[in-house]
Amino acid sequence: MKPFEVYTLFDIEISKALGSTLWDDKGNTYLDLYGGHAVISIGHSHPHYVAALTAQLQNIGFYSNSIKIGLQNTLAEKLGKLSGYPDYQLFLCNSGAEANENALKLASFHNGRKKIIAFAASFHGRTSLAVAATDNPSILAPINENDNVVFLPLNDIDGVEKAIDEHTCAVIIEGIQGVSGVRLPDVEFLEKVASLCRDKGTLLILDEVQSGYGRTGKFFAHQHAGITPDIITVAKGMGNGFPVGGVLISPAIQAKKEMLGTTFGGSYLACTAAIAVLEVIEKENLMENARIMGSYLREKLKGIPGIKEIRGQGLMVGIELEEPCAPIRQKMLYQHFIFTGSASNKNTIRILPSLAITKREIDVFIAAFQNTLTSKVVA
Ligand SMILES: Cc1ncc(COP(=O)(O)O)c(C=O)c1O
Repeated sequence: MKPFEVYTLFDIEISKALGSTLWDDKGNTYLDLYGGHAVISIGHSHPHYVAALTAQLQNIGFYSNSIKIGLQNTLAEKLGKLSGYPDYQLFLCNSGAEANENALKLASFHNGRKKIIAFAASFHGRTSLAVAATDNPSILAPINENDNVVFLPLNDIDGVEKAIDEHTCAVIIEGIQGVSGVRLPDVEFLEKVASLCRDKGTLLILDEVQSGYGRTGKFFAHQHAGITPDIITVAKGMGNGFPVGGVLISPAIQAKKEMLGTTFGGSYLACTAAIAVLEVIEKENLMENARIMGSYLREKLKGIPGIKEIRGQGLMVGIELEEPCAPIRQKMLYQHFIFTGSASNKNTIRILPSLAITKREIDVFIAAFQNTLTSKVVA
């Protein structure tokens, strides 16, 4: 048997990782500014995280979802406190798509409605409801059913005002659109959407799978707009590589037995990983670091030739070039040993480093990037 080849992969075998540094099996050293699609929040192989997971594995590696797991309460309490949602409820699952799937299902259980409002160029994952709310034709299966979803341009207040009615179950929106190339919803737009949702009895679902967990300098990107969603979804940085996702649910939504379920969600190991991540974010002030380093990075990018637009907040940064970015990313990787990310918009490079990235590491990236873009312009 061999892997089913659904990804374009770099031919590099990583043998060791620490912080933002990777080593391959040939002895090359790399700087990781992408963290496997924003997954690496506290840095690769953080010692506190490794120690917690190792101890947990030696202690109780086993898992059963029919007994109480105290670690789930510890995680919920810690996450509630650090995120600013202490009175919300937490449902644990295994990925971002699963979190959005459960969020949409929960919304329809709650208000009995079916219609969903989502946004152009959105990405919410590849399970059935999540993909139906995703605007990316290349991942829609022919069997997919999205008749109940209305797609509107991001930041189109009038469009939402016209489309939302007493049949609208939920509005689902990314805190910052990631896959499409780092696009921010306007503050006024989010405020208006939140108020329209309240008026119509529609639930507001904030997908913070990529933009959450401190990446933008606040725990959630929507907190820059001061709005309060009914449901918030998380994954990626939550486990720093361990597959764990979650749905944060307003106290106004009541749980009923068997409403949602999962075999693996909320295991001892997943909770241990997620708790260790929150402990490090708090102890090392990583949200503050994300805010400061993000501003530093965006400032340093200004004036580099070949850049059309710099978008983002904190350490979620999109650099739109004047032409497709694939050859630039290749050069950054094979000549300068730096990993960057791409987007569905072919001209945009995504930078999603660990929240513990340092000024020195950003300087290394800027020098290499400037060199790559300048030599390209001269040639
Ligand atoms: C905003 C957003 N939502 C959901 C997902 C899906 O997450 P997963 O790949 O863990 O299912 C992603 C993945 O890139 C994402 O960026």
